[in-house]
Amino acid sequence: MASHSLEVNGVVHHVEADQNEPLLWILRDAIGLVGAKYGCGIGQCGACTVQLNGHPVRSCSLPVSAVAGQKITTIEGLSDGDDLHILQKLWVEFDVPQCGYCQAGQLMSAAALLETNPDPSDEEIDAYMAGNFCRCGTYNRIRKAIRTAAE
Ligand code: FES
Repeated sequence: MASHSLEVNGVVHHVEADQNEPLLWILRDAIGLVGAKYGCGIGQCGACTVQLNGHPVRSCSLPVSAVAGQKITTIEGLSDGDDLHILQKLWVEFDVPQCGYCQAGQLMSAAALLETNPDPSDEEIDAYMAGNFCRCGTYNRIRKAIRTAAE
């Protein structure tokens, strides 16, 4: 066990954990932020996606010791208080989720995409979002919401 200092959604947390403990479990179990989901556990599905310094990362595969002192943003930090992120508003408007399990990860990748590329083409959207799987097949609505946010 070791002590780790993490900045999550602008708040610094001090947690005791093994240095190899995946960030996902720290977020969910130690800090109580359960928006990021466990899917595959091996960095393949994207359900656990959060942002590290603005870039999407798979929190199931990131040891807590690798992220100490860096800026972590989870789905709980995407909105500005009660003011939803534009993508969250469009997710609601376009009824994007079906079962919803993957959608926090989808949103964190989509938000990172628009930060780096404010006007992505469909091909760029598909390429950037390729690591976020949706078993319900909501890809068309996800693409539409991202495209609309970029307009
Ligand atoms: Fe992390 Fe699938 S749970 S990528």
